[in-house]
Amino acid sequence: MAEKLRKLFDEGDIREAVKRLAGDIARDFDEEEIVFVSILKGSFMFMSDLLREVKSPVVVDFVRAASYGSATATSGQVSLTKDLETEIAGRNVIIVEDIIDSGLTLAAVRDILLARRPRSLKICALVDKKARREVEIEGDYVGFTIDDGFIVGYGIDYAERFRNLPAIFVMEEG
Ligand code: IMP
Ligand code: MG
Repeated sequence: MAEKLRKLFDEGDIREAVKRLAGDIARDFDEEEIVFVSILKGSFMFMSDLLREVKSPVVVDFVRAASYGSATATSGQVSLTKDLETEIAGRNVIIVEDIIDSGLTLAAVRDILLARRPRSLKICALVDKKARREVEIEGDYVGFTIDDGFIVGYGIDYAERFRNLPAIFVMEEG
């Protein structure tokens, strides 16, 4: 298939969104330590830019989530194929995700981390596709809200391609 990419958010839009999110996080946490948990792989670029804007003391860690079963699987059918190396009990945690789509991945990761009794747990997502939600979950810090459409770039892939693009594009057939 020949893919056509249409630019949706450019570097300036992204920089602005990241600064705003970091500002909101600063307002909530001030000088408190935050453990940032990036969900691999899609959020790696967002995480790296976001952290450069956060002035609080931070700890950085990563998880990788795999879902098995059907697309309509419940959040119980997601597991971590790469777990945290950080103890999060009693600490402030912010999960950093690229896209909230059905919400299944994020809800599952949230529940796994909540079971470890963090002091607080927030969700920071670059893009929220609200209309496609299948489980109840909200981002506490959201960069962009879009209706639908498949996006790539800025860490986000289609079949592992396009992660290196510095802007966010909608994929269109053509
Ligand atoms: P959810 O479990 O349905 O919320 O799936 C979220 C994950 O699906 C995201 O973290 C992405 O990895 C992937 N995903 C959802 N929408 C898109 C998209 O438009 N482009 C690329 N990946 C997507
Ligand atoms: Mg992802």
